[in-house]
Amino acid sequence: MLNVLGLSRFQFAMTTVFHFFYVPLSIGLALCVAIMETLYVVKRKEIYKKMAKFWGKIFLLSFAVGVVTGIIQEFQFGMNWSNYSRFMGDIFGAPLAIEALLAFFMESTFIGVWMFTWNRFKPAVHAIFIWLTFLGSSVSAIWILAANSFMQHPTGFEINKATGRVRMTNFWDVLGNPQLWRAFPHVFFGAVVTGSMVLVGMSAWGLLRAHKQEQNGTAQVEPTVEADGSEHISKRVFYTRSIRLNAVIALIGAILVIIAGDLQTTFIIDDQPMKFAATEGIYEDTKDPAPWAVVSLINEKDKTAKSIEIPDMLSLLAYHSPSGSVKGMNTANEELHQQYDAKFGKDMNYYVPVTVLFWSFRFMAAVGFGVLLLSILVLWFTRKSKDTLWSSDWKLWILGLCTYLPFVGNTGGWLITELGRYPWLVYGLQTIADGVSPTATVPSLLFTNIVYFLLFLFLGGVMIFYSRRVLHQGPDYQGEGLGLQMQTGRNERRVALA
Ligand code: HEM
Repeated sequence: MLNVLGLSRFQFAMTTVFHFFYVPLSIGLALCVAIMETLYVVKRKEIYKKMAKFWGKIFLLSFAVGVVTGIIQEFQFGMNWSNYSRFMGDIFGAPLAIEALLAFFMESTFIGVWMFTWNRFKPAVHAIFIWLTFLGSSVSAIWILAANSFMQHPTGFEINKATGRVRMTNFWDVLGNPQLWRAFPHVFFGAVVTGSMVLVGMSAWGLLRAHKQEQNGTAQVEPTVEADGSEHISKRVFYTRSIRLNAVIALIGAILVIIAGDLQTTFIIDDQPMKFAATEGIYEDTKDPAPWAVVSLINEKDKTAKSIEIPDMLSLLAYHSPSGSVKGMNTANEELHQQYDAKFGKDMNYYVPVTVLFWSFRFMAAVGFGVLLLSILVLWFTRKSKDTLWSSDWKLWILGLCTYLPFVGNTGGWLITELGRYPWLVYGLQTIADGVSPTATVPSLLFTNIVYFLLFLFLGGVMIFYSRRVLHQGPDYQGEGLGLQMQTGRNERRVALA
């Protein structure tokens, strides 16, 4: 581990996982805020404008931290993976340049316009800005995933015999990569789940706080009518409506992420059988129909697994059919040796980190079904005829903790995708060991690993600190910009209860 390759891999994994906390969060939050503002435009109800403005602050925070972590992510290629950058530059360069020039610029421009022009445009025009921001961030994801999909399933290229590097032969083949059009919907709906579930969780914290304040008599009594004659919206109403709206978005997102995940699964069964067999902890080819391992004790050294199984279930999950056996890792390993030994030698180890893949898959899928169930329960507990959520602290606590759930799903997903292509950096073309920078050294990598780790701790702390502060200020705070200052705004009209 304490060698150039191990430290470079650790650094890339740490940077990507941390950066990927914010990417789906920003895309998902942009969509949620855009829906809120559109509801305001259509229904003309003040509460939706208030929601868009309030939750928009969390969106702006996640965007800002996401940009900083993205810059650190870019450093990785030149610093630690220069051989890979040289080998892939011709493919990687075009999508990343388009991403920066079109999608990221569009997103950054409209986020600024949206943030500073409340009340300067008609509501419908102002809502267009947040939709364009959302569009920019979603299109950004397509370009990044186009580059990533090439690493999983290279298309539209040839090897330049003079340089030994990949050369793009057909841009549209790179963009039409079947891996991309399975990964993008999955990542996109994962982002929808992330943004909406974070807002469900934060609304639960908001309700919990408002309920406690009411119980211990420290709640502030708000006038029922605002100075401009509009009706006042209490915190209970605000957070309950927020939680319901976001539970609907999370429910739709969860159904679609599961369907998209199923599409991914059926693709990797044939495309990367080693990866699929690892997610199921299967060393030997299964019988027909194949059983599904619920839990498994995997011994990677002896290449054995002891599992608690549900009979026939894997055939149903993998092939949507009551029959069909699944190829084990041992067979996949033999096939990979047959295919690549001439080029990469007989000593290659094609076994991926099975235990991590097996459990990552289960955690990720559990998050999908967990969010589905939770969103249905939230809608049930907050139904108009009988709202039981407000008075149930333990339910609100559980929901509050679920704020972190989607990050487990996203991290699990990336671990499967990226660790599952081991030993390749670019599948079948370049190994991980061949991609590392020849000039990187252990001391410099140790130093940068520690610096990045501390920086990520700091940035994570900043995100949580300011999110809590926004929540504590509450939806009635009238401060300018992000509204992160603690002083109460000039226009605030609150009367203390005492
Ligand atoms: C039953 C539900 C799910 C299934 C069957 C599923 C399936 C998969 C599969 C097979 C992969 C690997 C794809 C590859 O290596 O090419 C993957 C990756 C991924 N998953 Fe899931 N997934 C599910 C739920 C979720 C949830 C709930 C989230 C997020 C909240 C999520 C986020 C991701 C991410 C970010 C990746 C990596 C990017 C990619 O290659 O698509 N997944 N998923």
